[in-house]
Amino acid sequence: MEEKIRLQKYIAQCGIASRRHAEEIIKAGRVRVNGAKITEMGTLVTDKDKVEVDGKRIKKEKRLIYIMLNKPSGYVSTASDPEGRRTVLDLIEGVEERIYPVGRLDYDTTGLLILTNDGDFAYSSTHPGKETKKTYIAEVLGLPSNKTLRTLRKGVILDGKATSPADVEVVEIKDKSSVLKIIIHEGRNRQVKRMCETVGHPVLKLKRTAIGKLTLGNLKPGEWKYLSQQEIKLVRGNRNGTQISTKK
Ligand code: URA
Repeated sequence: MEEKIRLQKYIAQCGIASRRHAEEIIKAGRVRVNGAKITEMGTLVTDKDKVEVDGKRIKKEKRLIYIMLNKPSGYVSTASDPEGRRTVLDLIEGVEERIYPVGRLDYDTTGLLILTNDGDFAYSSTHPGKETKKTYIAEVLGLPSNKTLRTLRKGVILDGKATSPADVEVVEIKDKSSVLKIIIHEGRNRQVKRMCETVGHPVLKLKRTAIGKLTLGNLKPGEWKYLSQQEIKLVRGNRNGTQISTKK
């Protein structure tokens, strides 16, 4: 259902005037809703109503927002799930805009996920061939040999096509497993898990720690925050002259 809001708040959200000034505009008889002049405060309107100020239709400003979430395990990163599992959107409260995740993390993968309502940004960040680099920390079974590490770096055949060159290094050696830092420039389905599985080292745990130069920082699992202009630039590195606006 469309949200009903008070006319003076609506006018303010359209960027026409402050809420107080909007009240004066209404009192002065300068506002029409669906053709009828309104001079009373508190009239409720929705986005579907035609609101005019001085004969000109006004519309809510579309606010482009960018959020980064530290995704916990046990959430799908689609907007809805046919199996009724919890989605990452369940973790984002108090955001009116219709946002969606940029790319995906598996149900059991944790870490950095960006959500936005900026279709251009989402498209350019996941566009094949021009993808932003993504950094993962993967705990895998066993310890890959140097030869296996070279194979992972050079490319592994998935679905008949080699993965593009990746940065892979061992960052920790445990009893029966090891921890790898893997940086890839593509976003093929379950790519990191399938790469490691193919070379005989199934992934036990996977976390994304960075997208471009944007890192999780000290965001705890399940926490999220709005990205600043500076942080948004870290994602794409200002490539291709991508214009990003954050109207607030
Ligand atoms: N690669 C995977 O295998 N899974 C993810 O969730 C992300 C990258």
